[in-house]
Amino acid sequence: MVSKLEELYQEFSKSLAELNDQAEILNLKAAFLGKKGKVSEVLKSLKDATPEERKEIGPKANEIKDNILKNVNDKLAKIEVDQINAKLEKNKIDTSVFEDDYVNDFRHGGLHPRTLIQQEIEDVFLSMGFEVLDGPHIETEFYNFEALNIPADHPARDMQDTFWFTHPQSEEENKHLLRTHTSTIQVRGMLERKPPFRFIAPGTVFRCERTDASHEMVFNQLEGMMVGEDISIGHLIYFMKTLLKEIFKKDVTVRLRPGFFPFVEPGFELDISCLICNGKGCSVCKHTGWVELLPCGMVHPNVLKAGNIDPEKYNGFAFGLGLDRLVMMKYGIDDIRHLNSGDLRFNEQFNKY
Ligand code: PHE
Repeated sequence: MVSKLEELYQEFSKSLAELNDQAEILNLKAAFLGKKGKVSEVLKSLKDATPEERKEIGPKANEIKDNILKNVNDKLAKIEVDQINAKLEKNKIDTSVFEDDYVNDFRHGGLHPRTLIQQEIEDVFLSMGFEVLDGPHIETEFYNFEALNIPADHPARDMQDTFWFTHPQSEEENKHLLRTHTSTIQVRGMLERKPPFRFIAPGTVFRCERTDASHEMVFNQLEGMMVGEDISIGHLIYFMKTLLKEIFKKDVTVRLRPGFFPFVEPGFELDISCLICNGKGCSVCKHTGWVELLPCGMVHPNVLKAGNIDPEKYNGFAFGLGLDRLVMMKYGIDDIRHLNSGDLRFNEQFNKY
């Protein structure tokens, strides 16, 4: 009987080796271990065996049963793993494909050079404790002019050609406008906080002007303001120098000259030597060799008052960086109109992939 059992095990092993289907394997298991299975049938004749024979056959039968079970389970597990692997293989994502040549057929999206520089400036100022503020494009006269010490009849209103909204049916005719500068956010910033504070505010501004290589109707500035006790021109110069050093990563020649803006006193124009022509003169610097980049000054007491701040106790500085001009200087772009062109070939040059 022992040899019969061994024969059966051989037969089972041979059959199992040929099967790869889970259902068929389960049938094979039943054919050997089931109630009427081959092994069970052999064991039924155990009742006719002598006690000695039983002693020998019992453990052998158990061993063979265990082996059959183990082999069946191992094989089923292996089939399952093979199936999963086959599925994974079929649905595989080939991440190496982007190293392939054919990636060149794709057009990349990327950040606009102005965004790249804006992020850099924001990082510099955030690290110096400044907040970054935002404000609306559509403004009222109050924020764009009045609160900035430019009353209705002030000639300075003509310095910035303004896009006005008309409300034919309303009393408010001509009171709304597209902001001509980000200085509107000086006012909003002051009204929303108590000194001391410091913030910057990047944003798009609008002027009804003729366009040329260095002028656009829609362009971008980055405003800055710091208010506290005993703020001096020294602070202003320190922050402006730090800004330029971080952006250009090299020394640039600057000059400070008096500038008039109703909202600062004293006011300055900080110019940099034109980096397009190295100061020799070109269309961007209007052949002067200098580019107006950073108008700035000490905040006028009337402006502090409009922002609910006591000018006897506090003072501060403000600046209005020409963001697009800075981008042009940094990257050597010779026409501001490229910046709003929306041409992907232009944008792609500034992003490294
Ligand atoms: N708002 C001014 C402009 O657009 C620039 C400026 C800002 C000047 C802050 C001084 C201080 O011309």
